[in-house]
Amino acid sequence: MTDTGKPDSQPAVHRTWRPMPTAERAEGIYLYDTDGKRYIDGAAGSSVVVTIGHGVKSVADAMYAQMQKVSFAAPHVFSNQALQELGRLVASKAPGSMKDNCRSWFTCTGTDANVDAMRVARQYFVATGQRSKTLFISRWQGFHGNNIAVTGMHGHTGRRRMYMGMNINSPHIPPAYCYRCPYEMRLPDCRLKCARALETEIKQQGEENVAGFFAEPVVGAALGAVPAPDGYFQVVREICDKYNVLMIVDEVMTAWGRIGHWFGIEAWGVTPDIISTAKGMTSGYTTLAATMAREEIWAAIEKTGTPFLAGHTMDLNPVSCAGALEVIRTVDRLDLVSKSREVGGYLLQRMRELLEFDIIGDVRGKGMMCGFEMVKDKATKEPFPPARKASLRFQEEAMNRGLVLFHCTGCVEGSAGDMMLVTPPLVITREQVDDMIEIMKETTRALQRELLA
Ligand SMILES: Cc1ncc(COP(=O)(O)O)c(C=O)c1O
Repeated sequence: MTDTGKPDSQPAVHRTWRPMPTAERAEGIYLYDTDGKRYIDGAAGSSVVVTIGHGVKSVADAMYAQMQKVSFAAPHVFSNQALQELGRLVASKAPGSMKDNCRSWFTCTGTDANVDAMRVARQYFVATGQRSKTLFISRWQGFHGNNIAVTGMHGHTGRRRMYMGMNINSPHIPPAYCYRCPYEMRLPDCRLKCARALETEIKQQGEENVAGFFAEPVVGAALGAVPAPDGYFQVVREICDKYNVLMIVDEVMTAWGRIGHWFGIEAWGVTPDIISTAKGMTSGYTTLAATMAREEIWAAIEKTGTPFLAGHTMDLNPVSCAGALEVIRTVDRLDLVSKSREVGGYLLQRMRELLEFDIIGDVRGKGMMCGFEMVKDKATKEPFPPARKASLRFQEEAMNRGLVLFHCTGCVEGSAGDMMLVTPPLVITREQVDDMIEIMKETTRALQRELLA
């Protein structure tokens, strides 16, 4: 404490009140603090951001070159070249029939991209005379962002309860979560009841009122890397088509090679109507996000003459667009999409060794987006009491041993349940994966003693 009685801390507020090391520099998959300690960035930044690794000079050069040309061009009266080029590049990587047949709106964060996905859907239905369509259905244990509007729409209990009454509470259906199936069924007997629940919800809300359905291909922060089962998004696509509901996939985490495809939804072989994306698009070098929608959606809005009604001051930023362009080109040059599939497969295979421990109940993932779930009792899948802060303790102990991971909670009815996301940069090698596994095993061994004592 200082003599004024205030805590003796820096004036900037951090994500935790606990003391934390100061990051000084980073290179490849490693971060270094001001004491010179080295950490493996097993979280790829704060939850699934870094793809091409830290310290890539060509990205800094591209952004610097853009700054020297024009850093900020009043977006209400100017376009800019980096923006146009990025729009073309993103469209060329889009999945299925969206490839070279979509337009993107570029904003700042993944949350903004989801809000703007809601805006584009709403504006489309107004433009086409379907004004009653205002509702967005999402899933419990799904996460779509952190502004107060989106907290009503997503299903991450711990991040929405504080704001209930301040937001619009959207309808939710159960998650696609086989380890703890909400219907206590198993594939294939369940016939994907979790996907068919969408049809029930649309009927209950009235199809004339439902505008869109939001889902992550692999659920990140709310479930710890749970991919939807095979066939899930095919069923969702059919239901959306049947009721004229837009299928919106949140690829804020899963795009840009993260799960072994340019866009995660490719793994299910269906094309959505709208995609939101961020994080890996810039690999953390700058802030940028995109809302991509099929050409016919934008064309219907354009026909009305009313501009797209989104807009933040820093949207469409030329320097951020130049950074994203170089990041995406680097992913291409280094063939990181295939590498994510291949080395990610090795990571998942080695992570399965953690199942030898009593406190590891499940290991899951796709590509370089992996995770595991901690349990008190493996046979019954009983979670640890939330007060034990099991996953936070895992994060702290791994960090002490030089490995950064991202802890998550709430997979059991929103309040209990502990998961860890294991999502290193896509440039990681097999040898570096082995180093991560050693640290995860040591950490699990130590924590098992603590948590089961
Ligand atoms: C799936 C998903 N959607 C949206 C968001 C929000 O993105 P941002 O934190 O950039 O606002 C996140 C952030 O973790 C996310 O994981």
